Amino acid sequence: MKKKPLVIVTRRLPDAVETRMRELFDTQLNIDDRPMSPAQLVEAVKIADVLVPTVTDRIDGAILAEAGEQLKVIASFSNGFDHIDVEKALARGITVTNTPGVLTEDTADMTMALILAVPRRLVEGARVLTPDHDWAGWSPTWMLGRRMAGKRLGIVGMGRIGQAVARRAKAFGLSIHYHNRHRLSTEIEEGLEATYWDSLDQMLARMDIISVNCPRTPGTFHLLSERRLKLLRPEAYVVNTSRGDVIDENALAKLLESGAIAGAGLDVFEHEPTVNPKLLRLAAKGKAVLLPHMGSATIEGRIAMGEKVLINIRAYFDGHKPPDRVLP
Ligand code: DGY
Repeated sequence: MKKKPLVIVTRRLPDAVETRMRELFDTQLNIDDRPMSPAQLVEAVKIADVLVPTVTDRIDGAILAEAGEQLKVIASFSNGFDHIDVEKALARGITVTNTPGVLTEDTADMTMALILAVPRRLVEGARVLTPDHDWAGWSPTWMLGRRMAGKRLGIVGMGRIGQAVARRAKAFGLSIHYHNRHRLSTEIEEGLEATYWDSLDQMLARMDIISVNCPRTPGTFHLLSERRLKLLRPEAYVVNTSRGDVIDENALAKLLESGAIAGAGLDVFEHEPTVNPKLLRLAAKGKAVLLPHMGSATIEGRIAMGEKVLINIRAYFDGHKPPDRVLP
């Protein structure tokens, strides 16, 4: 009987996915469910035929340099793949796959939730009603937020998730603007009633809300730099469900603190799981809503991601091209 490939999974996955993984492959799970240390990752790439990392594992050049000849596939349990040095992996003949498409709607839902939660002070309001609250009752001038209908939403990165955000925001009466490396087809633009801005700077200066939905690539590190953040209007809000370091977090904190930007809704951070203390203080003051990277965290989404991982690994060992190969 042919030997089953050894698949090392760096975190716990949904039960159904782990069960199927065990049926199909010689599977080693990380029972601890804590991110593996670099030393553990090195041990894994020395023996695994397939590594299944997540966004909490940094598979950099140093780790890949230790990989044995047997490592054939890195099947990431993630949509983003900025945690993997793809170029180095490909150069070593390792196939890299991700899980695109299956967390689009969930991430867009969370983005929309933040687009509403920050200007409407949802979290601040919810914090009032603790068991020992002293709420004095409704008042005409208390807890006033900002109306979203009629406001301009600028989406930075109009891929699958950006477009799903646009569909939702349109239904809430926001006008849709976007900046993207490539302009969308006229058909898609018309369907979304979206206005394209060739210049990110000009778009930033005109919007009421900015939603960051571009992937983290070498070109998007600090795309929203201090200089660009300073272009925002003082009434503007910033939402990020992509990757923390697409925004210069320190600059954002500084501008929120000074009132140069009205508020922020962040699901991702530059140095996860560490969260910039300045942002935490701003959240306590109601200037930011911070979530612990849970944009795609649904049971359905995680199972679908696991299914994609399984399909990609199976395709490779059945001699086919995995459908979600990350290309150079
Ligand atoms: C991803 O998969 O890239 C998300 O950020 C985590 O689910």
